Amino acid sequence: MSSSGEAELLHTFKGIPFTTRSSPELLKSLDTFDAREDDVLLVSYPKSGTHWLAGVITKLYMTQVTVTSPIEFGDISRLEELNKLSSKRIIPTHLDYNMLPPNFKNKKCKMIYISRNPKDTAVSMFHYYRDNPNLPTVDTWAAFFDLFLKGNVVCGSWFDHFLSWAEHEDEKNILFLFYEDMKKDLPKVVKEITLFLSLNVSDNDIQDICKKSSFSEMKNDTEKENSDPSHTVCALTSNRKLIFRKGAVGDWKNYFTPKQNIRFQELFNEKMKLNKM
Ligand code: A3P
Repeated sequence: MSSSGEAELLHTFKGIPFTTRSSPELLKSLDTFDAREDDVLLVSYPKSGTHWLAGVITKLYMTQVTVTSPIEFGDISRLEELNKLSSKRIIPTHLDYNMLPPNFKNKKCKMIYISRNPKDTAVSMFHYYRDNPNLPTVDTWAAFFDLFLKGNVVCGSWFDHFLSWAEHEDEKNILFLFYEDMKKDLPKVVKEITLFLSLNVSDNDIQDICKKSSFSEMKNDTEKENSDPSHTVCALTSNRKLIFRKGAVGDWKNYFTPKQNIRFQELFNEKMKLNKM
C-alpha cells in the first residue's frame, strides 16, 4: 500500500480506520443521534453481503421504506438529512457495537447483523480495495492479507467487529444471519427475517423475492441502475459492478496459501475461543 495514499484516504477515529468520507465531526456526533423506535439497522463488516440483505429487506416491505447509505458516511449535515426523512428508515452501518449511537440501543431498535466467513470477506475486500479509487492502493494479495490480519483496513479488525456484536447475541432485538446460510437456503433465512420484523409475507411472495434476489438478478439490475448512485448502499462507489463480483462461498481457497491459511486459523482460534457462535 502506498503510504501517501493511505494518509489521504483514511483517518483513525477511536482506534478504527475510517475513510475520509466519514468526517470526524459526523463520527463525534453519532453519540447524540436521535433514533426512532421503528428504525431497522442492517449491520455488517464490509463485504459480508450488506447489499444482498438490503435488497431482500426492501422487497419485503409493502409500504415505502428508505434504505439510507451507512450512517457513518458523510459530513455533519448527513445526520440532519436523516432526521428529516419522513418514511421508515432502514439504516445500514459498519460500526462496531461500541460506536453505535446509544439511542438505537436504548430504544431497542431492531438490528440485523450479517456475517460471512472472514476468509471470503478478506478476499472480497481485497478486490474492493484494488478496484476502488476511494480506498488506498494495495499492490498484492499478500500485502492485503497482512493488513487484514492486523485490522489495518477500513472498519478495523474483522475479529473485533464480530466479537463486539456477538457479545449481544442473546438480545431479542438483534438477529444474527450468515451469508453462507443465505446461499444455502435463502427462503428459510428470508422467512426468519419476516418473523423477526413482524412482516406478513406469504410463502409464494418469499419464493418470488428470493428469485429476484439471486446474484445474477441483482447483478443485472445493477447494470440498469448503475448511473444512479442512490441505488448503492455503499457510499464509497457509485459503480455497482464493484459490489457484485462473484457472490460465491469458498473463493478464499483460490487466494490463501497453505501458510496464510495456518496463520489465519491460528488467529481465528485464539480470538474466537470464547465465542459460542
Ligand atoms: P464477492 O466480492 O465475494 O463476490 P457487501 O454488500 O457487504 O459489500 O458485500 C459484497 C459481497 O456480497 C460481494 O462478494 C458480492 O458479490 C456479494 N453479493 C452481493 N449480492 C449477492 C447475492 N445476491 N448473492 C450472493 N452474493 C452476493
